Amino acid sequence: MVGMAKAKSRKGYSIRASTKDDLRAIVGIYNWAVNQTFATIDSEPLDAEEAQAWWEMHGKRSLLLVSVDETGVIGWARLLPWKQRGFDVVECLVYVDPVHHGKGIGAALLTELIREPRGLGYRTIVASIARDNRAGLALYSRQGFEMVGTIRNAAHKFDRWMDITLVQKSLEN
Ligand SMILES: CC(C)(COP(=O)(O)OP(=O)(O)OC[C@H]1O[C@@H](n2cnc3c(N)ncnc32)[C@H](O)[C@@H]1OP(=O)(O)O)[C@@H](O)C(=O)NCCC(=O)NCCS
Repeated sequence: MVGMAKAKSRKGYSIRASTKDDLRAIVGIYNWAVNQTFATIDSEPLDAEEAQAWWEMHGKRSLLLVSVDETGVIGWARLLPWKQRGFDVVECLVYVDPVHHGKGIGAALLTELIREPRGLGYRTIVASIARDNRAGLALYSRQGFEMVGTIRNAAHKFDRWMDITLVQKSLEN
């Protein structure tokens, strides 16, 4: 990937394209969010088979980056075609190991990720974020995403209804 910082930065981590060997750690971070947070509407952790299917999803117009330090994968970000049928829109996901929150890793991952979708043929990138996910909303608005709107009572998790906010960013011509 052109321009991507492969060398370790001053901050002690680097960002690179993921390899299959990263999958276990990626899913570990995701399953933390499934079990402990409202960041994802999923309420059941992914098992090995589901993780494999997730890895293989949408091969050509997808992208999965990881941030790594000396301990291994500490965050990841993924572009996936947006699930709505007929739309030519890409969705992004960013997840950082909670031990490493608040150090700029999510912002660094998102910055790298949104360099790519234009090359994959997209004009618009979206993210869906629980309305009370302050870190998630701050992350995207800081990168110039605008709010599209909020779907009230969009999902049910841990005995609670969640409102989901959709944000979008137009990619430059
Ligand atoms: C959202 C998430 C990826 C942010 O990662 P991070 O590495 O902690 O974020 P950063 O340190 O890069 O901070 C990015 C911005 O969010 C803000 N932010 C981070 N945590 C915050 C919090 N708890 N409350 C309010 N703002 C917060 C930062 O201040 C920063 O904004 P700034 O540049 O204006 O200061 C991380 O909290 C996470 O993994 N959450 C679970 C998954 C998730 O919610 N993903 C988003 C939906 S896909």
